[in-house]
Amino acid sequence: MSGLALSARFGTPDQIETLVSIETVVAEQMDLHVQKRRLWFPNDLMPADANLDAAADAELARVRDAARGLPDTVRVAVALNLLTEEGLPHFHRLIAVHLGNSAPWSSWNNLWTAEEDRHGCALRDYVRDARLFDMGELEKLQYRYIEAGFNPDWEQDPYRLLAYTSLQEKATQISHANTGRLCATVEPMAQKVLAHLAGDESRHYQFYRAVFGAILERDPNRALQSLLKVTLNFAMPGHAIAGYDEMSEVVRRARIFCARQYQEIVEELLDFWKIGLMSNLSAAGREAQDKLMKVPSRLARMADFQDAKSAARDFQFGFIYGRAVRL
Ligand SMILES: [Fe+2]
Ligand SMILES: [Fe+2]
Repeated sequence: MSGLALSARFGTPDQIETLVSIETVVAEQMDLHVQKRRLWFPNDLMPADANLDAAADAELARVRDAARGLPDTVRVAVALNLLTEEGLPHFHRLIAVHLGNSAPWSSWNNLWTAEEDRHGCALRDYVRDARLFDMGELEKLQYRYIEAGFNPDWEQDPYRLLAYTSLQEKATQISHANTGRLCATVEPMAQKVLAHLAGDESRHYQFYRAVFGAILERDPNRALQSLLKVTLNFAMPGHAIAGYDEMSEVVRRARIFCARQYQEIVEELLDFWKIGLMSNLSAAGREAQDKLMKVPSRLARMADFQDAKSAARDFQFGFIYGRAVRL
């Protein structure tokens, strides 16, 4: 590999060598992903064609009417899910700078971005057609989120990007699926849209955890240290959004996504990667392994604490016209 290629992306020379050594794994996982996915489009869900008939108009009217019954807690969750999806430019850039601009990484980044781009479109089409929000207020939040940037402190470590995406895809899957479940009895189209998103996130999660698993096999000590840092400091991408803390607190109290679910994600991944069984590690690798294995019980204590202390309080958001949400 030329010096220019080495300097074109983040990572130490050893890390880049590891990333180059797993390129066949990445290509295989991409093929697997394409075989498993069923490509869908936002227009399949909320059609907006010029030649729509009266039945389609009637369905749209039904959705809009039923969506009036969606509780404000669910609206807040939908808003947060939409804003998170609309942060896609940040992630396309982060993947490109951490993993480089050549195949198969760039091919994955482009394929993944094309799939993710449908998420923001589909959810935005839904909230617009169903009239869920004060759209101008929501658009201002989205604008500020994109303008503010998203720069997680990964210290140019490509392993942390892949550890983060493994955790984050699963977290997003759970957020979409749980939000959808709360919509189902009131307005089923909302669940249908969110279920399409959740299905994609599940397949993205399987890709990232397989790729990070390949890194764990080849460079276990460094990979464990990167994984530990990301696991301890995990924050969803929207944390740069104004009002994000209040929105995520609503989502937590509504049990859509909270420390308990994060604990389950971490447990599932530690188990999948067989972190507890890894041997022949360096002292630093063993230390990271020990600390990682203690993360689930720490998160369980945090979840117990959060469950015990939450007295009801009011939340207010401009995108639902300042109405008070009491939880
Ligand atoms: Fe997504
Ligand atoms: Fe995804």
